[in-house]
Amino acid sequence: MSAFDLQQYLAACQQQVNQRLEYWLKQQNGLAPTLVDAMHYATFNGGKRIRPVLAYAAATAVGGDHHQADDVAAALEMVHSYSLVHDDLPAMDNDALRRGKPTCHIAFDEATAILAGDALQCLAFEVLACSPITHSDTTRLRLIQLLATNSGTQGMAGGQALDLAAEGETLTLQELETIHQHKTGCLIRASVAMGALTCPGVSDTELLALDRYAQAVGLAFQVQDDILDVIGETELLGKQQGADQALAKATYPSILGLEQARQLARDLCHKAVAALTDFSPQADPLRSLADYIVSRSH
Ligand code: IPE
Ligand code: IPE
Ligand code: MG
Ligand code: MG
Ligand code: MG
Repeated sequence: MSAFDLQQYLAACQQQVNQRLEYWLKQQNGLAPTLVDAMHYATFNGGKRIRPVLAYAAATAVGGDHHQADDVAAALEMVHSYSLVHDDLPAMDNDALRRGKPTCHIAFDEATAILAGDALQCLAFEVLACSPITHSDTTRLRLIQLLATNSGTQGMAGGQALDLAAEGETLTLQELETIHQHKTGCLIRASVAMGALTCPGVSDTELLALDRYAQAVGLAFQVQDDILDVIGETELLGKQQGADQALAKATYPSILGLEQARQLARDLCHKAVAALTDFSPQADPLRSLADYIVSRSH
């Protein structure tokens, strides 16, 4: 039996979600071409597509197929791409480089970047509501609710508000964990849950185990992002190394030190994989992704 090839899997998932993103973005042409150009720019600029990949892998883990998860994957990447456009704005992290290119507000202008983020967020929900992929009405509503809750005040947007308020402050580890679980962890939890829900046969027990996996991986993802801000290289990261320190952001390396932050990321990866004990080899992509998330260099 050949070992699971993560690089090949990532490339296949990226290609699949890219096709879906193109399909939906093409339909936006007409009224405001520059706005659509900015949405396209913010989406097609070299992102790793981790949230779509997690959704595909979660669908596979519970016996579903990738095609069923296609529009969930596209919607998740739209919300994520919007969050990056807004995260980079002068009023937030004020960054000039994203995914190796000028940030959206620099390539276009601030107003266009704000609107591109707004419109990408709306499009994500339109995709879930109108997707031609067959889901029961109950599932469709559950998908919409999961994305809304995890990206709103109780999720990503709430976490971003706490992140900005914490600049220059000294936080406890618990306070930092709350920020990271919300600003980044929630959308990753939504990715895993939504991917799994596209398989009609998924059980509540499976969803619970997957959520334990996603909670650990979601936090680990942001811990590694913090670590890479310290040890990464701007060219490889595609974003400015040292940006967190420049803004006196609360991060895991700043509170725990680099070595302990690295150890925590590894511990979280083991915790994530342990949550999948009862799953068959169909969950190998998820297992492999946990490892990738804490060992990645960008
Ligand atoms: C960066 O996310 C922002 C965080 C939530 C940490 P990614 O590292 O997934 O960014 P892209 O999509 O690959 O550019
Ligand atoms: C961003 O966290 C989280 C969201 C966009 C929701 P960061 O501010 O750490 O992300 P990067 O480092 O700019 O990619
Ligand atoms: Mg930020
Ligand atoms: Mg940022
Ligand atoms: Mg960061």
